[in-house]
Amino acid sequence: MSVKLNFILLKKIPKIKELRIWINWLNDFEVVKYSEQRFKEHTIKTQKFFLRKKLKEKKSLIFRIFNNKEFIGVLELGSINLVHKTCEIMYFIGEKKYWYKKIGTKLVYFGANYAKKKLKLKKIITSVYKKNKGSLKVLRNNKFKIAGVLNKNFIIYKNKELRDDQVILEKFL
Ligand SMILES: CC(C)(COP(=O)(O)OP(=O)(O)OC[C@H]1O[C@@H](n2cnc3c(N)ncnc32)[C@H](O)[C@@H]1OP(=O)(O)O)[C@@H](O)C(=O)NCCC(=O)NCCS
Repeated sequence: MSVKLNFILLKKIPKIKELRIWINWLNDFEVVKYSEQRFKEHTIKTQKFFLRKKLKEKKSLIFRIFNNKEFIGVLELGSINLVHKTCEIMYFIGEKKYWYKKIGTKLVYFGANYAKKKLKLKKIITSVYKKNKGSLKVLRNNKFKIAGVLNKNFIIYKNKELRDDQVILEKFL
């Protein structure tokens, strides 16, 4: 499968066809099992509301990721702080057939490079569930370093007895 990635900066609410694909990913437990999104039910209405708020705040840049013309995932540079020159990176590949093809590694590279070259930021951070081995690997491939661990900071599967560590990672740009 040949992959040609395109990162398209979100400037307005996407068409309904794309919103439907997006909310299907957000309602797919496998895709969001290590994300706070799993606690909500996502509809076209909630997604439009969320995106309008993001676009208005101007603290985030959201990129829709395409392989040729197929919408396959989302990347966000959030909490952009132009005083301290920092931001946070968040991402997911919603189309599961594209997992394990180095796309995660490439999209984090794109985000860090954009933060450095276009936004002139000095540091990028993120945090992941310790159980999320794929995401940790993608970040390590991009030379993110572990800055700290918050022990048993997240609940898993809504079961308060099962908890996971929150790993905080950073990369100087
Ligand atoms: C996590 C995610 C971005 C990984 O993307 P990907 O394109 O499959 O990752 P890559 O192909 O670049 O893989 C990078 C490395 O991680 C490994 N890996 C990927 N997924 C893995 C998994 N679930 N478990 C263990 N290792 C995994 C790969 O084998 C590869 O190893 P290598 O560098 O030694 O060859 C993707 O699975 C995803 O979007 N998941 C759902 C959302 C999510 O978890 N987002 C991150 C929230 S912090």
